[in-house]
Amino acid sequence: MALNEEAVKHHERNDIEAQEILLPEKLEDLSLELEQKLNISSKEVRSELSKAADNLDAVLERLKHKLSEELCSFKGIPGYKEVERYWVNEPYSFVVILYNEDKNDYLYYVVEPELSPLEKFLLAEIKSKVKSALLFTKIEGADKEEILKNKIDEVLRDYGIELDNRTYRKIVYYIIRDFLRFGKIDVLMNDPYVEDISCDGWDTPVFIYHWEYGNIRTNIKFSRRELDSFVIKLAQRGGKHISTSDPMVDVALEDGSRAQLTLGMDVTTRGSTFTIRRFREILITPVDLIRWKTFSLESMVYLWICAENNKSMLFVGGTASGKTTSLNAVALFIPINAKVVTIEDTREVKLPHPNWIPAVTRDVFMAQERGKIDMYDLLKAALRQRPEYIIVGEVRGREAQTLFQAMSTGHTTFSTFHADSVDAAIHRLEYPPLSVPRSMIEALDVVSVQAQTFVGGRRVRRNLEIVEILEIDPTTRNIKTQTVFSWDPLTDSFSFMLPSLSASKCLRDIARFRAWTEERLEEEFRRRKALLEYMVKTGVSPEEFISIVHSYHAKPEKTLRRLKIEW
Ligand SMILES: Nc1ncnc2c1ncn2[C@@H]1O[C@H](COP(=O)(O)OP(=O)(O)OP(=O)(O)O)[C@@H](O)[C@H]1O
Ligand SMILES: [Mg+2]
Repeated sequence: MALNEEAVKHHERNDIEAQEILLPEKLEDLSLELEQKLNISSKEVRSELSKAADNLDAVLERLKHKLSEELCSFKGIPGYKEVERYWVNEPYSFVVILYNEDKNDYLYYVVEPELSPLEKFLLAEIKSKVKSALLFTKIEGADKEEILKNKIDEVLRDYGIELDNRTYRKIVYYIIRDFLRFGKIDVLMNDPYVEDISCDGWDTPVFIYHWEYGNIRTNIKFSRRELDSFVIKLAQRGGKHISTSDPMVDVALEDGSRAQLTLGMDVTTRGSTFTIRRFREILITPVDLIRWKTFSLESMVYLWICAENNKSMLFVGGTASGKTTSLNAVALFIPINAKVVTIEDTREVKLPHPNWIPAVTRDVFMAQERGKIDMYDLLKAALRQRPEYIIVGEVRGREAQTLFQAMSTGHTTFSTFHADSVDAAIHRLEYPPLSVPRSMIEALDVVSVQAQTFVGGRRVRRNLEIVEILEIDPTTRNIKTQTVFSWDPLTDSFSFMLPSLSASKCLRDIARFRAWTEERLEEEFRRRKALLEYMVKTGVSPEEFISIVHSYHAKPEKTLRRLKIEW
């Protein structure tokens, strides 16, 4: 690569100034030698050598390809045809998606370097020696892989083991994979298309949720012993402890993924299990949610105006329906200078706000004698931190009452809650163990209901409805609600359910507070819709999205003019 960069530089110089050909250091000596031996002009030698340097990159590519073919090969599975394949860690591992038409069965096949029986034996031996050698040294710091590689070399030297290059590379790959990365599931943890990974017991295939193919079986399996020790290791890596006396643990892994773990057969009868929710590096914005048709442009404009104007919201839905993702996306609409506190069990919400306190609960095991800090403790502390917006990752325990108290005392809160509908949510909130008084539920403004559902056979996430909490009916004492937007599964489209914008309680309140006339409210709605539409069409990055939204908050007209948006 360095040679090639030099060559490119040389060409540039040559083109511009037609000056002397510069060669990389090593070729420089060779050039002198050739000049003397062949008695030809330095220019000619130099030009020949520089062409050779140019070709080196292509040669390198070819070698890399050859190496990868040598390291791992895949010959197919009878009955299955290959749908696609892609590298995850070139040249060490790739994934093949296979499909069996008769069984309508997809398979996610991980291909890693193949080991001969002798190589397997060597790997086990070297691994155990490296393990003992590491008892006295900790692998820390930025270049962990380099340190481990040096350790492997040391062990090989000490024991006089000589390996050919190919075997050496395979052994280093597996030791790094198992010591520093995620072992057998490392490829799954590095494939950007994998959302969830779940292992339901030993000797059964690990399943994944693939961005394109949905739930799909993999060719990875754990033996009973392997699985137990893997689950214990995952817990440790998340800084927690799992044991037969405490066999269920939730952890956040170092890459931000979340794992739910169970150990042994007491609680899960097929043996230890793990479920990993992969962390998405990339921030999902409202623009993404509109592009994926989870929300309509209009419903997002509505949530934008509500979020910016201190309306409290609850995102409800089933497991993995995308509640936290939607909450995070809508939270990007919070005015950039507002003070925000987030309270979560594991860090999921990501915000650009400079005045943001991200708080995370602490388990007894992590804290040792210093005791446990749960959502309730954090929420009480948060109220003393005088935040304008409080985001509670998921409400499920004694923090519920405090959260609704915070709402009734003028804080804006965003939160997620496990329930399939607004009625179910209100019911669960009101009854034990949460027991939130009905008069406090009235302080909640908006409920957004989300679900995983099917459209044309594809699994998608949709915002089923957005509902406003109105008031308690004085005669029946029931909580009155009204639906603002609703999704129609037949047409996969969203409808605005009210006669006018000002029929919405939230928008009416906001308009009154801001002294907007009905026309002004409608204009505000149109402008924001045009702005969001512009961002959906041009496909902005999360950073651009954040900057455009906050520039609109500060200077609406100027922002629209700058982007040449008509409304
Ligand atoms: N609108 C969407 N369209 C497609 N994928 C989505 C969408 N929203 C979220 N996802 C993906 O679905 C997965 C679950 O999302 P998320 O964690 O937000 O769900 P959740 O309802 O909060 O889950 P939980 O019940 O575990 O709290 C993630 O991998 C996320 O990237
Ligand atoms: Mg969630």
